[in-house]
Amino acid sequence: MYPSLVVFVLAFSLATLALDNGLMRTPPMGWLAWERFRCDIDCKNDPSNCISERLFRDMADRLAEDGWRELGYVYVNIDDCWSSMERDKEGRLQPDPDRFPGGIPKLAKYIHDRGLKLGIYGDLGTHTCGGYPGTTLDKVAVDAQTFADWGVDMLKLDGCYSNVTEQAKGYPLMSKALNATQRPIAYSCSWPAYQGGLPPDVNYTQLGEICNLWRNYDDIQDSWDSVLSIVDWFSDNQDVLQSAAGPGRWNDPDMLIVGDFGLSLEQSRSQMALWAIMAAPLFMSNDLRTLSSEARAILQNKVLIGINQDPLGVQGVRLLKEKSRIEVFWRPLVDSASALVFFSRRTDMPYRYRTSLLNLGYPSGSYKVYDVFTEKTLPVLKHDTYFTVSINPTGVVTWLLTPTMHWGQAQEAMKYNFVEEAIDSTFL
Ligand SMILES: *[C@@H]1O[C@H](CO)[C@@H](O)[C@H](O)[C@H]1NC(C)=O
Ligand SMILES: *[C@@H]1O[C@H](CO)[C@@H](O)[C@H](O)[C@H]1NC(C)=O
Ligand SMILES: *[C@@H]1O[C@H](CO)[C@@H](O)[C@H](O)[C@H]1NC(C)=O
Repeated sequence: MYPSLVVFVLAFSLATLALDNGLMRTPPMGWLAWERFRCDIDCKNDPSNCISERLFRDMADRLAEDGWRELGYVYVNIDDCWSSMERDKEGRLQPDPDRFPGGIPKLAKYIHDRGLKLGIYGDLGTHTCGGYPGTTLDKVAVDAQTFADWGVDMLKLDGCYSNVTEQAKGYPLMSKALNATQRPIAYSCSWPAYQGGLPPDVNYTQLGEICNLWRNYDDIQDSWDSVLSIVDWFSDNQDVLQSAAGPGRWNDPDMLIVGDFGLSLEQSRSQMALWAIMAAPLFMSNDLRTLSSEARAILQNKVLIGINQDPLGVQGVRLLKEKSRIEVFWRPLVDSASALVFFSRRTDMPYRYRTSLLNLGYPSGSYKVYDVFTEKTLPVLKHDTYFTVSINPTGVVTWLLTPTMHWGQAQEAMKYNFVEEAIDSTFL
């Protein structure tokens, strides 16, 4: 009846090399246009809600002024549909002059002046997914140099309109070309998403050597179903994916849609907590100008961000999938700390889930438990003490755990009645 003991095997290999540009030692954080603003180029009616210079300046202002930058959200990232339909006379990409009248270098300066970084989008292929000029193999070097000249700090290279052979050549080629510009430019590769995301078609060792992050799976949509399908795919394939991730090289389950239209409050908390467990890049795609205070509180939760940004850089895993449709996720953190997410896939009512840390594979000892969303410290918990958490439908209970002392010491301390004896603590 009880879940079998989970053996704590850290499947990460410290020997695996990361792309040697020194960037993204923790998952990148910032804002990315795509999910919320897509390819809306109709700027005539409302220049602030289309892919335009105005939109990116507005988002930079919000990141700088509303407390985001200090929390680590520093990237302002352009996605598809920014460019002109034609390259310039020298064969370089150029922005649509109507929507980016100041040009990209000026926008980059605006962003840099606010202590932020600029990301841009390209596509390895004849066209971008939105039909704009793509980066064919003969254009890789010139496009890398153009982005560097403009002061770009990150490139997302999509993979529409290219085949397996071209991708196998082009993604490593762009990595070399970016390096040759001598400007540190973080590199996001959509390559695995075009090859099914799994070995043998995807070589994660190679990806870690040439890219800082990569999209493995489908684009996120503004819906709970989309979030669930992504969580399932990443959990079902966690044995492969966990070892691919580490400082400087991250799996990217795609943008945060917290603050948009598709998720309830509980679901928004779930996405943020699970993205923290997965060591996912935290790129929000929402409208920071009109964000609700509830969405802001979730996205600015310091403890969750701390879990996401843990310097050990080990991607967390799903420990258990119960028949009751409760799932338990776990991520090891520095100094023997860890995070647990109790996630309910139920749609009926809050579910009381009973377990112990021992059942979840924790070593003997006592643990300090902090509930990330209620912001309460719970009574010290022994590994074999049963507890019950009440998890809302489609919601999470998220804990940060730190060992207080070893079990021997704990027993010693108990002689002095130091550790509270709780047979079955119920945390509601
Ligand atoms: C990929 O496209 C190139 C043209 O750019 C072509 O020469 C090659 O045969 C194609 N390869 C495959 C596997 O389709
Ligand atoms: C380019 O690669 C070399 C060798 O891997 C590395 O030392 C250097 O920092 C890289 N430069 C940039 C700008 O990424
Ligand atoms: C994967 O890439 C690594 C590093 O580039 C390479 O050494 C290895 O042979 C590749 N593995 C396969 C199965 O191709």
